[in-house]
Amino acid sequence: MHLSLSIRVRLFASLLAVAIISAAGLSWYFLAQMESLGLRQLESRLGSEALVASAIVGERGIGGAGSLQAALAEADPDLSSRLRILDGAGVAVVDSAGETGVGIDYSERAEIQEALAGRYGAFTRVGEEELFTMYVAHPIRSGGEIIGAAYTSAPTLSVTLLLREYRQQLGWALGAFLVATLVLAELLSRWLARPLRRLATGTAAFAGGDFTVRVEPVGARETRAVAEAFNAMADRVEHVVSELKNEERRKSRFVSDVSHELRTPLTAIRGAAETLLDGDVAPKDAERFLTTIVRESDRLARLANDLLALQRIEGATGELPIRRLDLAEVARRAVAALEPLLAERKATVEVSGQAPAVLGDPDRLQQVIANLVDNATRVAEGGTVRVEVGAEDGRAVLSVLDEGPGIPEAALDRLFDRFYRTEQSRARTSGGSGLGLAIVKAIVTAHAGEIEAANRPEGGARFTLRLPVLKD
Ligand SMILES: Nc1ncnc2c1ncn2[C@@H]1O[C@H](COP(=O)(O)OP(=O)(O)OP(=O)(O)O)[C@@H](O)[C@H]1O
Ligand SMILES: [Mg+2]
Repeated sequence: MHLSLSIRVRLFASLLAVAIISAAGLSWYFLAQMESLGLRQLESRLGSEALVASAIVGERGIGGAGSLQAALAEADPDLSSRLRILDGAGVAVVDSAGETGVGIDYSERAEIQEALAGRYGAFTRVGEEELFTMYVAHPIRSGGEIIGAAYTSAPTLSVTLLLREYRQQLGWALGAFLVATLVLAELLSRWLARPLRRLATGTAAFAGGDFTVRVEPVGARETRAVAEAFNAMADRVEHVVSELKNEERRKSRFVSDVSHELRTPLTAIRGAAETLLDGDVAPKDAERFLTTIVRESDRLARLANDLLALQRIEGATGELPIRRLDLAEVARRAVAALEPLLAERKATVEVSGQAPAVLGDPDRLQQVIANLVDNATRVAEGGTVRVEVGAEDGRAVLSVLDEGPGIPEAALDRLFDRFYRTEQSRARTSGGSGLGLAIVKAIVTAHAGEIEAANRPEGGARFTLRLPVLKD
């Protein structure tokens, strides 16, 4: 099972564990050190007492030990250590604990065997008083011979008692230390966990759909890096989401626009067909209705074609079949293709000027110019339309100028939207569907160019197309 603990609790526990382990370790180490120091001190005291006694007895001989017994009894009965003088066989001849100790044989003890062999002997064991006792024995020499041993002992109680006292004090100190650690660990873990908690709150809010959430990059370097990465990601997601929403809006508007555009010709066709079905229509009227049906069907077909073209151009990614082009030549070709229409509208189109070569798709660019000329001759029937080709700021420029009514100020920035028509052209039955300029814009954009509409000071409109020049 996975334990779900907050990072704050984990930090708190870790800090506390480290503090407890190091405090316990240190205490244990110092207590052990103190104990061995106390025991060493006790041993060296017993050692020097044994040494002094062995020197004195060695000088007087073991026989003179009797007087020593008397001297000891008088000296200091409270002496915390006990002194025994043993003869060469390990039997006590003097005992500071009293006469009763005299005559006891200690030759079995390891430290006595050491001393009688001429070496220093020391040992700690549960002794006669049923306490832990330290024993130290020194050989007694006289004239180069070992004649006995000086044997001192003392319970290690003093050391134990001292340690017990220390342990108690240490306990209090440790308690105080732990309380301080508890408070500190709590504060520290809160402080360390805070940036992460903020990060968690921020990301949760973001995941909940609030894409405006950002977190302040604070705290440790890693936390800051995470916060910064989160913010960068949030920026991107927010951007993409708003883009998607816009796209969605565009699409749904497009669909409603398309259905709206379909309705008008369909209504006209249905009206005409119904009237014809009713019968009893004069042949002249019947012809008029049939003409309407044909015209509106054409319009539907054109609409379908235009939408398809727009879809292809906008959907294509750099797949235009491009080649080196002369804009003036493309313009002349576009005008030539429009000849029947121009004749019908009694319009004149003049192409003039020269432009540096550009890279482009000739058919698409011809479509651009044809659309512009179509619009210009439609709004100004019987007038003259000029197509001027030239260069400007290192770019090839093509302008279409007409003598029509110009474009209403309010319409200028919506002109290139799909299905957009000004009030005037909307009222006209001969009007198109409003896709022409959207197609123009899409083609020009695909060529990395720009298109702009303006009103000429002398009247009429001017559409200016700019394309990057081919450098060789
Ligand atoms: N030269 C111009 N002078 C005045 N208004 C213009 C001119 N060219 C375009 N417009 C306005 O811009 C609108 C949009 O033009 P666009 O070419 O996109 O559509 P359309 O000509 O109405 O239809 P379509 O081109 O699809 O047959 C036109 O309906 C017209 O109102
Ligand atoms: Mg048009």
